[in-house]
Amino acid sequence: MMTEKEKQLRDQALKEAEESRSRVEADPYRLRFHLMSPNGLINDPNGWIQWNGAYHMFYQWNPFKTGHGAKFWGHYISLDLVNWTHQPIALAPSEWYEKNGCYSGSAVDLDGRLTLYYTGNVKDDEGNRSSYQCIAQSEDGIHFEKQGPVIDELPEGFTAHFRDPKVWKQNGRWYLVIGAQTEDMKGQALLYRSDDGREWTNLGPVAGSGLAPLQDFGYMWECPDLFPLGDKDVLVVSPQGLEPEGMHYQNVYQAGYFVGELDLESPAFHHGAFDELDRGFEFYAPQTTVDENGRRILVGWMGVPDQQEDQHPTIENGWVHCLTIPRELQLHGDRIIQKPAEELQALRANEVVHEGVALKGRDVTLEGVSGDVLELEVDLNSTVPLFEIDLRGEARLIFDREAAVLTLERKNFADRLTEKRQCHLEELRSLRLFLDTSSLEVFVNGGEEVFTARYFPSLENHRISFGSSGPAEMTVRKWTLESRP
Ligand code: FRU
Repeated sequence: MMTEKEKQLRDQALKEAEESRSRVEADPYRLRFHLMSPNGLINDPNGWIQWNGAYHMFYQWNPFKTGHGAKFWGHYISLDLVNWTHQPIALAPSEWYEKNGCYSGSAVDLDGRLTLYYTGNVKDDEGNRSSYQCIAQSEDGIHFEKQGPVIDELPEGFTAHFRDPKVWKQNGRWYLVIGAQTEDMKGQALLYRSDDGREWTNLGPVAGSGLAPLQDFGYMWECPDLFPLGDKDVLVVSPQGLEPEGMHYQNVYQAGYFVGELDLESPAFHHGAFDELDRGFEFYAPQTTVDENGRRILVGWMGVPDQQEDQHPTIENGWVHCLTIPRELQLHGDRIIQKPAEELQALRANEVVHEGVALKGRDVTLEGVSGDVLELEVDLNSTVPLFEIDLRGEARLIFDREAAVLTLERKNFADRLTEKRQCHLEELRSLRLFLDTSSLEVFVNGGEEVFTARYFPSLENHRISFGSSGPAEMTVRKWTLESRP
């Protein structure tokens, strides 16, 4: 039964969304094929699952302002990863154990019911935090019944920064990994086990700052996700507190992965080095699911906490941020490759092809290759020292062959000065770009590297141009992409 308080909060949220609707929807930077909240702030993808054939994407949502606060869970459903329909609010922070937010978590099928595990965030009058790991279940996948906390104690030696349970079933038992912080400020991922999905035993930390082979590696680990990929195991996590190191860790917080082997008995996760999943400006708190075809699909938040958050130009229209497109993960050796879900091809229209273009000099445009909502594939058959693509005068990709560096430049949202993100790249063979009204996602060499970023080009400028420092041959394919969510 829904409590009076919950009903009230839901009504308030819907009223807010309704009242800001015309302002939000009139914003030309509103995205066309990315998931957004109806208004306010969206952050982490949550409860990402294919359940009884339908894909469910929940998300952290603050309907009351374009900042963080007591989060709700918004909800979308899709049958094909392309057409999404908004659903009733899944969770509103109405009960004592979640009054300051139904924080991030995951979804599984437990006893035939769609079951959400999430963190109830509570702050007392002095600002002291408590965290409860909670359950809500649904028969129809749309209406959820809260069952309250299933883990209500903090593990010994850890602070109340204890959140984001990711649950899965393995060898007939339930497991969850959860983000945690030790009392001496080390970010770690803890493993729990359960036979029935309700009573949980803490098995201890499986990876983290201060645990071999890592030394200092952040003061908090958010949104851990542990899963098999290829013949290995992967831990995706969003550590906070890494210092910039050359081209690495340039954003306020990072999201990346370790490849290794999970030993459920010890328990331990034996792993190699951390690698960032994304080289762009806005990418954080990704979550994966495995679908009925066995694909491991990742969706991230196209934002980073505290990073330029109050400078987004959409804030004056009552909304901020979005999620990334779904990406299929594959393991090549010890590296994750990301490929846009193949279903996204259904968005393509108006194909333009320029085969074997002989490129020379800068600022070269190609007939039909321009726009604001599009996909662009560039195959480069060349060893020129410098190659670049300019995107609507607002962002630029530059490959410097000698330095073996790929750079994404864009204009800062506030001062308009150029800022950049970079990665090491020996060879540039191909680029696949997904451009939405105010976002770009760049898949390099079939997904070896990805750059994700927001950008806010002037609305009239649809110009895309190419440049090279010497003769280069390339093939360019372009599609306009159709509006979806
Ligand atoms: C990550 C995060 C999570 C938390 C949620 C709150 O962006 O901080 O750790 O559960 O956002 O919205």
